[in-house]
Amino acid sequence: MKELVLEAAEFIRGRSPLQFKWGIILGSGLGSLADEVVQRVTIDYSSIPHFPQSRVPGHEGQMVCGFLSGVPVVALKGRVHYYEGYQTSEVAFPVRVFKALGIANLCTTNAVGGLSGSFKVGDIMLVQDHINFLPSPLKGPHDPFFGERFPSLFRAYDPMLQDLAEKAASKVGIPLKKGVLASVPGPHFETLAELKALRIIGADAVGMSVTPETIAARQMEMKVLAFSVITDLDPSLGGEELSHDAVLKAAKDAASNLAKIIKEVISLHEGS
Ligand code: HPA
Repeated sequence: MKELVLEAAEFIRGRSPLQFKWGIILGSGLGSLADEVVQRVTIDYSSIPHFPQSRVPGHEGQMVCGFLSGVPVVALKGRVHYYEGYQTSEVAFPVRVFKALGIANLCTTNAVGGLSGSFKVGDIMLVQDHINFLPSPLKGPHDPFFGERFPSLFRAYDPMLQDLAEKAASKVGIPLKKGVLASVPGPHFETLAELKALRIIGADAVGMSVTPETIAARQMEMKVLAFSVITDLDPSLGGEELSHDAVLKAAKDAASNLAKIIKEVISLHEGS
């Protein structure tokens, strides 16, 4: 895998030689932040060697390199998922490429179902921790090039970046919820019994992504910040039976608030 990652990174460097500081992954319906990147170079995933291709409507499959809040970033519009048939190691491939590009900070986002009574559709949840039901992206032969065989996931979501996110949200005047993200294989949504079980074990939201990226990033000692957009609610909290279209619409509606927070985090981080 090391050679494949390095080849992909080399290709990207050939298109944009910036010293990137952040890698940003924009999930379902959340891609609009990438349109705010300036002096941008856009690269289709299909042209990047070995890069996995998204096949889900709402996931656009483009990398955008440039400046956000004056800071060099790489933003991914769309990701691949385990439920598409990819291994989680393939799902995490772009994060390995970020690291090979010299990026120290990962900001990842997704659309989720809310399990907490204090959430409503459109809320943004700062991910404080996760409960992962997907296979580990570290499964299989170990390459020490990427880090430890048994990395710790204590404080996987960086406490300092979480503080900055809270400061950023209050500065731009957007309420920020906090909670634990459960990640499930999908692609079906959960049964009512599963939603209840997830709540009981301590999850505040449920989605189908982010955790493989976080695990790979932590193995490589990158700092991780994650935001989940609540696109639907557990029916026991008054939510309705859901569809992918409803999830996409709710995500698109919240995307501009999320973009404001992320831009402010990057700006505060630069000044810190
Ligand atoms: N469950 C799992 N994944 C999701 C959901 C959900 O309710 N909403 C958006 N992604």
